[in-house]
Amino acid sequence: MAKKQLLTRRHILWIGLGTLAGIAAVAQSKAMYKAQKIQSLYNPERDFSVVEKASLKERAAAKGLIFGAAGRYRDLSSQTALATSFAQECGMLVPEWEFKWSAGNRPLRPAPDKFDFSATDWMANFAQTNKLLYRGHTLVWGLSLPGWFKETVNRQNAEQFLVNHIKTVVGRYAGQMHSWDVVNEAIEPFDERSDGLRKTPWLEFLGPDYIDFAFRVAAKTDPKAMLVYNDYGLDYDNSKDEARRTAVLKLLERLKSKGTPIHALGIQAHLWGDATDFNPKKFRNFLRDVSSLGLKILITELDVVDKNLPLDVDVRDRMVASVYEDYLSAALDEPAVIAVLTWGLSDGYTYISEFHSRPDGTSVRPLPLDAALKRKLAWNAIARAFDKAPQRTALN
Ligand code: XIL
Repeated sequence: MAKKQLLTRRHILWIGLGTLAGIAAVAQSKAMYKAQKIQSLYNPERDFSVVEKASLKERAAAKGLIFGAAGRYRDLSSQTALATSFAQECGMLVPEWEFKWSAGNRPLRPAPDKFDFSATDWMANFAQTNKLLYRGHTLVWGLSLPGWFKETVNRQNAEQFLVNHIKTVVGRYAGQMHSWDVVNEAIEPFDERSDGLRKTPWLEFLGPDYIDFAFRVAAKTDPKAMLVYNDYGLDYDNSKDEARRTAVLKLLERLKSKGTPIHALGIQAHLWGDATDFNPKKFRNFLRDVSSLGLKILITELDVVDKNLPLDVDVRDRMVASVYEDYLSAALDEPAVIAVLTWGLSDGYTYISEFHSRPDGTSVRPLPLDAALKRKLAWNAIARAFDKAPQRTALN
């Protein structure tokens, strides 16, 4: 009896060890497969050369396009060299934090009855002084709300809060703004609503028409600004992004059929250096569908996450540059695309270092300029895409 039990225990031990070994082998082969896939994206021969030294804004402008970037008040107001690079390379500035209700250490909405425009005013002035177009991000974003919101805003007063916010913020810069991201990230197909809308406090308090409503208030307050719906996860050929594209298109169709004053779709384009599922044809079809609704398109938050790419900086920069050029070549082929903005300009000032840091602890390199503000291959890639882009005409 005792012997039998011992055997059984030993068996269990062997089975356990065997299973562990099996799991380790599967994990190892998965890791190897991933490493091979990443390796296959690396092409040491690819040409990233550019002619002349013209800046990105000049190359874009030569085709009737706009190039710009997101920047933070904190960085632009304290780092003169960074500010100079913005002025040299960009034709448009978008505050990365400062127009959000809550983000950063100088929130636009510190309290229910307060607005702090010190950062957005400084940036408006910076844009004007350096002849940059100014762009607002964002008026309505369910994911970026201040602490006081929860205990203050409810079904009864939500409309009043929304109207007051839009009128005050849009009104202050009326006539000066190129465009506003009126609503950001309102789609989440996996929230399981038939209309694909994300469950946010605005939806809960005001119902699905809060989007149309926000655009109408913005249009009335600044009839000159281009009004944009902005979202992410629209880039790749996988079921998740496909569901998001479908839901966004349906939303845009609904808004257009209601006569909502919406003028453009903003595609965030936070891309991945190790993605293998970008399908230029599918992406182009999506852009064409958006354009056929009579909407313009802006690429609003472009960057390339390099957290899964090799440590070697030359290899990594080539891979990041390839993603930039492949993506932009496809995007700029569509005449409705009028602007490209990167989410930050320099690797020294990027939200990727906080949100997608590298497991090896080395610095991230997702943007066109390196941390010392020198042009990288990613810069060349963007320049090449602008140089190749079809000329925009007044009729587009
Ligand atoms: C990010 C900023 O870059 C961060 O610094 C901040 O902490 C959080 O927001 N999609 C958006 C942007 O629309 O507003 C986000 O910006 C990045 C993802």
